[in-house]
Amino acid sequence: MPDAKSERPQFPRRLAVLISGRGSNLQSIIDTIARGELDATIGLVLSNRPQAPGLARAADAGIETMCLSAADYPCRDDYDRAVAGSLTARNIGIVCLAGFMRLVGQPLLDAFPNRILNIHPSLLPAFPGLGAQRQALEHGVKVTGATVHFVTADLDGGPILLQAAVPVLDDDVEETLAARILVQEHRLYPEAIRMVLDGECTVDGRRVLRRR
Ligand code: GRF
Repeated sequence: MPDAKSERPQFPRRLAVLISGRGSNLQSIIDTIARGELDATIGLVLSNRPQAPGLARAADAGIETMCLSAADYPCRDDYDRAVAGSLTARNIGIVCLAGFMRLVGQPLLDAFPNRILNIHPSLLPAFPGLGAQRQALEHGVKVTGATVHFVTADLDGGPILLQAAVPVLDDDVEETLAARILVQEHRLYPEAIRMVLDGECTVDGRRVLRRR
């Protein structure tokens, strides 16, 4: 009988980070690895936008970068197949969406089952989609936060790995709230990646459970 340890999924500790913009979460992952607090390598940073500032962060850190524009592909599935092919060719274990402004389609989901993570600036399932901080202010909630979840075909709807709460202050505007949430994002995402790489959790329906 296999012991509990051997049943843990074995992933290459190689990450791909998919971005569309600023790349501050990418930077926090780079920095956490550099400090020796996350045992992983970033094998590729892939953007769908050539102007994404995060590409320069990756290049500065000596990480391979790639830009694939959706406009160069006849359909969504072809684009996702191209992304999946680029990742599997680099022996990527975990795919981290970090401000990647595209829905992930079935070809990519199938290539990395339960191995694609996303970070979102709210306490999901509240405020999915764009402008989560603005949505929180408009709704008048007193607490919002950040969520790291597995990616499924449902937008921002996959099983939740980790969350952190952030209070909404009376004088908050979108920028101040987003900045405080971002502090939590930068702490949360590397920790969630470590949990998945170390096989510390299992997915049971909608719930992500810690292994004992
Ligand atoms: C973050 O707020 C993340 O939660 C959301 O998009 C933003 C990306 O920011 N998905 P950055 O590019 O990592 O700075």
